[in-house]
Amino acid sequence: MKIAVIGTGYVGLVTGTCLAEVGMEVTCIDIDQRKIDNLKLGILPIYEPGLEEMVVRNTSKNRLYFSTDLAESIKGADVAFIAVGTPPDGDGSADLKHVIAVARAIGRSMNNYMVIVTKSTVPVGTARKVRAAIEEELQIREMPFDFDVASNPEFLKEGAAIDDFLKPDRIVVGIESERAEEIMQRVYKPFLLNGHPIIFMDIPSAEMTKYAANSMLATKISFMNDIANLCEIMGADVNMVRKGIGSDARIGNKFIYPGIGYGGSCFPKDVKALIKTACDNGYEMKILKSVEAVNENQKNVLFNKVYKHFQGDIAGKTFALWGLSFKPKTDDMREAPSLTIIDRLLEAGCHVKAYDPVAMKEAHHILGDKITYANDQYDALIDADALLIVTEWPEFRSPNFNVLSKLMKDRIIFDGRNIYDIKQMQEAGFTYYGIGVKP
Ligand code: UGA
Repeated sequence: MKIAVIGTGYVGLVTGTCLAEVGMEVTCIDIDQRKIDNLKLGILPIYEPGLEEMVVRNTSKNRLYFSTDLAESIKGADVAFIAVGTPPDGDGSADLKHVIAVARAIGRSMNNYMVIVTKSTVPVGTARKVRAAIEEELQIREMPFDFDVASNPEFLKEGAAIDDFLKPDRIVVGIESERAEEIMQRVYKPFLLNGHPIIFMDIPSAEMTKYAANSMLATKISFMNDIANLCEIMGADVNMVRKGIGSDARIGNKFIYPGIGYGGSCFPKDVKALIKTACDNGYEMKILKSVEAVNENQKNVLFNKVYKHFQGDIAGKTFALWGLSFKPKTDDMREAPSLTIIDRLLEAGCHVKAYDPVAMKEAHHILGDKITYANDQYDALIDADALLIVTEWPEFRSPNFNVLSKLMKDRIIFDGRNIYDIKQMQEAGFTYYGIGVKP
């Protein structure tokens, strides 16, 4: 099969590379010449475990190509995936200008039947707009090519994207014809060997599925954060409560870890966009509005604990931060809770010394000289008044606590991810604060 993927961001690059990995001929297209030149050399614009090797391997086997020439690259393609960005615009809805511009470019240059698939997260009704844009361009050219549009939302998690793509829990495809269904079935057959389903449905339902999935996951997190905060007040331990409820199969034990709020490029944006879509159509998403409010509050919880412990006397103190990315295994700091925590600490006149295994460059880009960057996790602790655990990177889970004790001014840990056991920490002589556990 011949595939074109337009947009070499996170979703586009993973999609194109994984389709090439199973033997398809794939061209990834982007308007950014530098990005394309770098990709040809195996230099990636993002960090994702395993992706670089896969790009290099498939490029060298002549299955994966990179180009800025959309018109040339979509010639003869069976499927064109649109995977360009949909940043939130001023009022919280997804900005579709890139998606529609690509649809128009496809209409201006296609010369055979193909399925044009939106893979970017787009509001319900977008595929219809994509169809209209392509039709308009074909009419101008007086070229009555037949084509189909489809919606194929992506459920990749940053840090686990390759595995998620190669072994998906499910694939959702919104289609409008049997021909498109048959082609999409062929595209995804190599990825369904584990028996997991491809679910075909109408296009609006597929578009809605993506927002409903992310909103449900965000709801689980905010719900657990709310329960965690109440646990603290009532003297309960949320870790126990989590295990207690998670063993009910209807609730499930995944995605119910309390923390310092969800971040990243997806949940905050998608929750906002769904609230907006509903509002524009005369409906109020009351639960999601609360999910958002709880999350904003939760980003402040760790700072509030620090402030309370020191009874407000924090100006001039130095705080070590372990973790800056919004979650482990990524350098992504978009909407990361670390940014709120750092803002609050700096506002209060504190010094921040931070370490992250991969996000240091990204942090420097965003924060400049406002904070100090440590060489490693222990370096961050030298003369620190307390340690704040912000991202649960595996290497933070089992540090040498004797070294910690020696390096820190005072043995105080504010753990925003509950990676340590409160009893063990207290026995080791630390003052320990977790989320949803009574200090
Ligand atoms: C999320 C979804 O999980 C993917 O299925 C989806 O494809 C993707 O968005 C997207 O729309 O593109 P991602 O943003 O990579 O993926 O990150 P997650 O692993 O879902 O984590 C999101 C946030 O929730 C993180 O800040 C994490 O720390 C937080 N979280 C997660 C918790 O606070 N508690 C949990 O139990 C789980």
